[in-house]
Amino acid sequence: MPSYHFDYTEYKNENELEYPFSHLLVAAKNATESAYAPYSHFKVGAAVLLQNGEIVVGVNIENASYPVGLCAERSALASAISQFPEQKIVAIAISYVAPSGDNNKPAFPCGMCRQFISECEDRNEQKIPLLLAAQEGQVILIHSAKDLLPFSFGGNDLG
Ligand code: THU
Repeated sequence: MPSYHFDYTEYKNENELEYPFSHLLVAAKNATESAYAPYSHFKVGAAVLLQNGEIVVGVNIENASYPVGLCAERSALASAISQFPEQKIVAIAISYVAPSGDNNKPAFPCGMCRQFISECEDRNEQKIPLLLAAQEGQVILIHSAKDLLPFSFGGNDLG
């Protein structure tokens, strides 16, 4: 029977990361402070590392008309691609602060962001690793955005 599996890496905490990923994760953690999340109070920060060394951050931006809200991942990627369209994306880090105060377990990108990052990966012509962590504790490194979206739909399907 066909099956699907992927490898990922776990770290006990941020101190086990090497530069520049350590730096990138700190940027994502700090970005949570700028989140506009008056409805969910779930503050997300994302940081995109580009080949030229630039780090571009994004946050979730909610809206009174709830579905209009934007996730931090798409916010960061839209900004990075707008400002540096020619730069390859090296990695993206995602962090959050939960209103529950439970802030030591990584959260994974929502389905819409997985689709969005998957196409960024196609455009990038190289894998985009995802670095996931709350404010403290465990860090998970997913080596390719596509790992989180098996059998994905993409531009090729449109012919
Ligand atoms: N959110 C993100 O920013 N990224 C995700 O991958 C999951 C959810 C935001 C959307 C909304 O503002 C809040 O978190 C609660 O769902």
